[in-house]
Amino acid sequence: MCGIISYAGKRKALPILLEGLYRLEYRGYDSAGVAVVEKNGVVQSVRAVGRVEDLASSLSGVDMHGTVGIAHTRWATHGAPSVANAHPHADCKNSVFVVHNGIIENHNHVRSALLREGHVFSSETDSEVLAHLIERALAGYRKPFFLEDAVSEALRHVEGTFGIAVVSAHDAGKLVVARRGSPLLLGIGDGEFFAASDSAALVRHTRRIVYLDDNELGILSPQGYEVRNFRHKPVAKAIETLVGSLSDAQKGQYEHFMAKEIHEAPDVIRNALRGRVLYHDGTVKIGALDSLAKKSARIERVVIPSCGTSFYAGLAGKYMIEEFAGIPTEVVHASEFRYAPPPLGAHTLVVAISQSGETADTLEAVREAKRKRAPTLAIVNVVGSSIAREAQMGIYNYAGPEIGVASTKAFISQLTVLSLLAVWLGRQHSLSVSTGRSILEELQYLPQKAAVALAAAPRVRELAEIYGAYDNFLYLGRKYNWPTALEGALKLKEISYAHAEGYAAGEMKHGPIALVTDTFPTVVIAPSDSVYEKTISNIQEIKARRGKIIAVATEGNTEIEKLADHILFIPKTIEMLTPILAVIPLQLFAYYVAHKRGCDIDKPRNLAKSVTVE
Ligand code: G6P
Repeated sequence: MCGIISYAGKRKALPILLEGLYRLEYRGYDSAGVAVVEKNGVVQSVRAVGRVEDLASSLSGVDMHGTVGIAHTRWATHGAPSVANAHPHADCKNSVFVVHNGIIENHNHVRSALLREGHVFSSETDSEVLAHLIERALAGYRKPFFLEDAVSEALRHVEGTFGIAVVSAHDAGKLVVARRGSPLLLGIGDGEFFAASDSAALVRHTRRIVYLDDNELGILSPQGYEVRNFRHKPVAKAIETLVGSLSDAQKGQYEHFMAKEIHEAPDVIRNALRGRVLYHDGTVKIGALDSLAKKSARIERVVIPSCGTSFYAGLAGKYMIEEFAGIPTEVVHASEFRYAPPPLGAHTLVVAISQSGETADTLEAVREAKRKRAPTLAIVNVVGSSIAREAQMGIYNYAGPEIGVASTKAFISQLTVLSLLAVWLGRQHSLSVSTGRSILEELQYLPQKAAVALAAAPRVRELAEIYGAYDNFLYLGRKYNWPTALEGALKLKEISYAHAEGYAAGEMKHGPIALVTDTFPTVVIAPSDSVYEKTISNIQEIKARRGKIIAVATEGNTEIEKLADHILFIPKTIEMLTPILAVIPLQLFAYYVAHKRGCDIDKPRNLAKSVTVE
């Protein structure tokens, strides 16, 4: 949510900043801007509404030669997308320029105070107060000489979350960045230094990374960098190495990242399993779980705080853990957990699930769990992300960068990891070696089966041609595939803007059935599992009301052909793993419907990939 890239080095900053913005655009894309400090100390800034390419057009013909600069791509929180509300924000004298991710919660109060002092504001944003606070600090009685001192002083007056990057005509040649609650990392190059909200913007330039922690400030210049806390004390930071390749963040042969990422399902499953299966013992080996075994008392409850697609993965995980480990499991929206946490304690394992590892509510849920002394385990895709570092134990998905805003491969990976967790927890309780082995054996076949499910893409595309113009869809599933129905509906609404409701099939009679008509199709996830017959009854009920049915069913099921208008087949697998295969045609369906409708698939309206504000 909002992307920051900033640079201090010897090269011209502008091309580096623009290129970084393109890589960060998936975090927010309603407006963008840059500010570059020129050799004469003047700061030039250009902002534009829309995508980074709109900013690039606004910059054509503008000469910016400076080698220190900041840039931002915005996802609006306070104030509509407009040039005035785009970042960077400046002080009254156009001397201090700030880009900001996060929310300044006391901005109204601070703004009123600054207005009384004569400051003039030009935007409706919460962020602009930062530029004026720094201006005030620079002009203050004690006259701090250095920009970093002024930034520290300014930050004493704000409440809320921030990742900021600041340049100024005063102390020109210096870039100051600071973090509290919003991600920020430094890239260490050779005589050049970067700071960004996301490693995607850095990987082209350097793999040497310093992760800032909360209440830390980075001071960067072509001469070097330093990290301090807000009390001006230097902090020694380790340099870590980024993994992954540049091609991970490119579309390759695909028209959209989403299509590429859906087709990565087999690899994603393999990567989640690699080196973790102890087939002989019917269990799994994951470092985090070894330390959980050592440190914790018996786990009597599991609570899973998460958001969006990760929440739906958690719902399927609950069924896995309860069925195979017999441990009561609760899945909680992280935004609810924050303010109404369930009872927690040393015997409750809190499993935070997050693709980005930066979702503000999930991060806070982890912190709350730690305060309540519950052991915390994170299932996270982005290595080194805030949640990965905050949780006491972590399992990485190793799914590679997910760029499409609508999450696809991460869901598949999260379900794979959750099945491993269920096996491990089960084996700590009463799950037999043989059952453990049979699950692990089936997991080994899953990449091939996912490839078979993907091979149905042309058929899914035909269906999208038929249904692409419909505006309402119902998605139904039972037990393990209720979460799949929720996720399928979420995918469709996120990227095609068709209205789609996911429902537990058995609940359908308690409301949604009233919506069913011949123009309100129902997608039913009906693999051959323990609840198949019940799901078939629901299909009959919809057919009796002239509703059209698209069924996701297990290969070889000829019975369902008599009932459903269209069928998308998936390979046979064990019940707990059916969501991993069943979601594939649903992801493809959402993709092709959105494609037919001409939607901006990788950057859907109003959404952001990583929600770093609550
Ligand atoms: C946003 C994204 C979703 C994602 C959710 C949770 O809403 O658009 O795709 O599922 O955040 O994100 P996380 O990174 O915590 O999994």
